[in-house]
Amino acid sequence: GKIKFDFENALTKSHEYEYLKPMIQAAHQTLHAGNGAGNDYIGWLDYPTSYDKAEFERIKDAAQRINAMADVLIVIGIGGSYLGAKTVIDALTHSFYNELPKEKRKTAKIYFAGHQISGTYLTDLLEMIENESVCINVISKSGTTTEPAIAFRVLKKALEAKYGKEEAVKRIFATTDAKNGALRALSTANGYETFVIPANVGGRYSVITPVGLLPIATAGIDIDAFMQGAADGQKEFSVENIDENPCYQYAILRNVLYNKGKAIEVLVNYEPSMAFLAEWWMQLYGESEGKDGKGLFPTKMNNTTDLHSMGQMIQDGPRHVFETVVRVENFEKDVVLELEENDLDGLNYLAGKTMSYVNENAFKGTLEAHVDGNVPNLVVSIEKKDAYNLGKLMYFFMKACGISGYVLGVNPFDQPGVEAYKKNMFRLLGKK
Ligand code: PA5
Repeated sequence: GKIKFDFENALTKSHEYEYLKPMIQAAHQTLHAGNGAGNDYIGWLDYPTSYDKAEFERIKDAAQRINAMADVLIVIGIGGSYLGAKTVIDALTHSFYNELPKEKRKTAKIYFAGHQISGTYLTDLLEMIENESVCINVISKSGTTTEPAIAFRVLKKALEAKYGKEEAVKRIFATTDAKNGALRALSTANGYETFVIPANVGGRYSVITPVGLLPIATAGIDIDAFMQGAADGQKEFSVENIDENPCYQYAILRNVLYNKGKAIEVLVNYEPSMAFLAEWWMQLYGESEGKDGKGLFPTKMNNTTDLHSMGQMIQDGPRHVFETVVRVENFEKDVVLELEENDLDGLNYLAGKTMSYVNENAFKGTLEAHVDGNVPNLVVSIEKKDAYNLGKLMYFFMKACGISGYVLGVNPFDQPGVEAYKKNMFRLLGKK
């Protein structure tokens, strides 16, 4: 399906949209000509069609081998090297995927590691896998990131203790740069099977590369459909006529709103399995735009849960916020509320209605209330929650981010600021 973008409730005037069109057109030209800031990192732009087809088949094959060998896949990575995979796996697998019995789950449980530096977490993970058959996918573009490197050192040792060195090699899959970095050297030295993160794709744009694809495929998700969605996005969101390009409309609107003092963008969802999309989106936009004292501050609301915590702040707090709702139009799974003889809970007025109908009205009612409270609302809708639409939606946000960043006047493809904490940490730890 097509992605719909609705900005009827943006609380802006139509000329504000018109006035920014030339900027978007210029950003489009610059991005597609590859002569803008950070143009060494725009490999994601045509990746959904230009990707290495042989490697793609090997990813599917590796996923099958992992599932034949193991009941658990541990995905080691941080930032762009895990957020995309976790987003898609959360969105498209059972809400209790890891807890399901094997017969129902069919594919390996997915645990994540190396996305923080907690000894408690890693100890507990080691306990969880004591009696499980395990494979590892260690993912690091630079190959030198501290968090995943620590987790890999510990988990590799556990795997070698369990299976012996030779068998452990068959259970370790590394996704990293084609040539550079410690993980590449380690993989070559030990003979791990490897997949390539293209040098010209930054972490936060890498969900459509092996970084996202191997864990996603291992969880039993159709990566052909996922890539098809991204490929159709590549085409649909390159249409120069902005009035026909929802992706560019989103890029305009968030700039219009930012320019008039809406400094915070809240990504809102009403579906818990889609909650992690906001984590991925926050990295994408936060790391791309937060530069030179500029950028929208990206944050999230998981509704209706957060209407009972942050709802008051959005309704009635400072007016420096706008919301972008990600809406799923149709659900495969639903619950119908039944009529009860004694209407003691007072819910009989909903008898015969589905939970998604109730949820949809919660969304409509909230939007109306927040707009009444002067909070602009944008709505991005996908037809349904499947691999195709997820691929397209993620490409939508990536493309809009590149365009939006150029309009803002930043380099949307670098992240010099993330080095500052590392420098201090390494000094404190006495790293040579
Ligand atoms: O977007 C980014 O560049 C970062 O978030 C990286 O993805 C993250 O720091 C992990 O880097 P690496 O894959 O090199 O270990």
